Amino acid sequence: MVQTIEWTDGKVRMLDQTLLPREIGYIDCADYHMVAECIKKLCIRGAPAIGIAAAMGIALGAQEIRAKDFNGFMKGLETVFNTLLSTRPTAVNIKWAVERMKRFLMERKNEPAEKLKTLLIEESIRVLNEDIEINRAIGRWGAQFIRDGDTVITHCNAGSLATGGYGTATGPIRVAVEQGKKIQVIADETRPVLQGCRLTAWELMQDNIPVTLITDNTAGALLRKGEINLAIVGTDRTVANGDVANKIGTYSLAVLCKENGVPFYVAAPLSSIDFSIPSGELIPIEERGPEEVTHIFDCHIAPEGVKVRNLAFDVTPAKYITGIITEKGVFRPEDLHKLNVRGVDLNAFMLKGNY
Ligand code: MRU
Repeated sequence: MVQTIEWTDGKVRMLDQTLLPREIGYIDCADYHMVAECIKKLCIRGAPAIGIAAAMGIALGAQEIRAKDFNGFMKGLETVFNTLLSTRPTAVNIKWAVERMKRFLMERKNEPAEKLKTLLIEESIRVLNEDIEINRAIGRWGAQFIRDGDTVITHCNAGSLATGGYGTATGPIRVAVEQGKKIQVIADETRPVLQGCRLTAWELMQDNIPVTLITDNTAGALLRKGEINLAIVGTDRTVANGDVANKIGTYSLAVLCKENGVPFYVAAPLSSIDFSIPSGELIPIEERGPEEVTHIFDCHIAPEGVKVRNLAFDVTPAKYITGIITEKGVFRPEDLHKLNVRGVDLNAFMLKGNY
């Protein structure tokens, strides 16, 4: 399995996802500005992966701070936090990482600044390692809904490349394969940046998981023909009422699944769930530059000067979602908020599969 991001020799090394699958190249980020640039340009992308990058970016930024006292140290970090938070607005994982690192520091107020710098590096590596474990747990919970012989459709890339490793939406797929189930994956190509084509198809092929690539507008026809048994996608931000923001086109796929009676699951680590937002209309949606639509790589494919809208994400209302697969179990979207209540018996409202 590919390694998306790691801390090595005092730098943050990332696989440059803009080059895939034509080239395998790495970027070594020596400071937090470089990390922020890589997030903006999609060299690293996918909600959990940019959360990990933000945590490592904070650790890098901390190394530059000269203040010796705790308040000065925190003040210096404010600029680092804000720079990282300004990169991509939809995925909540950057905010999640900033809050986790802040909390971590607040609990260690009495440590000298030099010690905090080392502790932040260790904590960011923990964020990476925990993410992989969380994805494996999502995989175990989700695989119970995949039967031997099933064909699973996914959108965008919510795989190893979008996470610390193993993937969220690909977690159940990988576990099902490990359990010996013979399954097929259909990958939507995912215009405009083609994460399904360039990344999902590539990473599944690397791991010998059978995958078929389709254009986004083919999904409806295959669903109608009965060739797809279930859908599993990732999320950039899932909110308290179970509405899900994910890559543009997820909403259309969810509606098509509902129309054709095909279950639609969302793999959502708790780091992607924002209980502070009551419903989907309040999720900030990133709009990106027109060149992602008018060009494919360096090739200009649209008429010069055409007006473009390039929404990077959409919101799928909870009513289209069969279940949300978290590291704590699988829940109906309307039950998701109970995860945020202390002392609730999660077993009582968990969804169970038969496979
Ligand atoms: O613009 P991207 O490539 O960062 O969008 C990624 C997605 O929409 C993923 O599906 C989502 O982040 C979940 S990744 C586990």
